[in-house]
Amino acid sequence: MQITPMAPRCGVEVSGIQLAEASGDVMEQIKQTIYEHGVAVFRDQELTPEQHIAFGKRWGGVDVNQYFPLQDEYPEIAVVRKNADQETNIGGAWHTDHSYDQIPAMGSMLVARELPPHGGDTHYAHMGAAYDSLTDDLKAEIEGLEAYHTADHVYEEGGLYAQTDMGKELRGQDIKTGAVHPVVIRHPHTGRKLLYVNSGFTINFVGQTREESLPLLTKLLNSAVMEDNQCVVKWQPGTIAIWDNRSSWHNAMNDYQGHYREMHRITFSGEALAA
Ligand code: OGA
Ligand code: MN
Repeated sequence: MQITPMAPRCGVEVSGIQLAEASGDVMEQIKQTIYEHGVAVFRDQELTPEQHIAFGKRWGGVDVNQYFPLQDEYPEIAVVRKNADQETNIGGAWHTDHSYDQIPAMGSMLVARELPPHGGDTHYAHMGAAYDSLTDDLKAEIEGLEAYHTADHVYEEGGLYAQTDMGKELRGQDIKTGAVHPVVIRHPHTGRKLLYVNSGFTINFVGQTREESLPLLTKLLNSAVMEDNQCVVKWQPGTIAIWDNRSSWHNAMNDYQGHYREMHRITFSGEALAA
């Protein structure tokens, strides 16, 4: 297995393995790599839906997304799809998956199934690098703070997606979510300090209103996505990306209007987060 950095502070390309066959020590090495670098890209993979699900179970368990359409025959697989005549895409803003759960998903594994002829890259940002790059004053200001996360405003009736042409594709408008997490968490395996607020689901700091929270929250969000903390996944047929939802954020580019794109996602179960 060869590991090559994608960018100085974020992401690696892993070659020399087929994920369908990965288990035991190889699986452990893949996990450590992703915990550390935030996202790993694997090229030229052959993976059936059964093998996709089996990989998730070998990793440690599958969380089913409550909102995305599911694959008819394989309800563990969420379909991240944009039709040629649709304007809105899924995940088209900086976010991390499932931070609105009290025990958020550890990571996600996205398999390219049908790609547009150009565009449709996914951008990632490393949240360890994001924390490190904050000024000492900002680090002091967020020490000990907690934040409230929810997905209700995104998925509810009349919510962000409902106002777009993606609305009718999604499920779970009635589901209520809400979780409190420290603003700075320690990675459960590497111990690295990570910034854990995101623009998709973080609403306010505990003890402050949304309005009171916004100036600091905006400062953190802007600083987190500095170019230097980022890397880009350019998809090809056979590309799979696996990311750690604690150590990275992602943002799906929506720059392939008029073309179809379909990705299959499995979300890995996670663990409680702590400062
Ligand atoms: C996701 C997501 C990004 C993409 O599946 O969680 O945000 O590029 N997808 O499709
Ligand atoms: Mn996502």
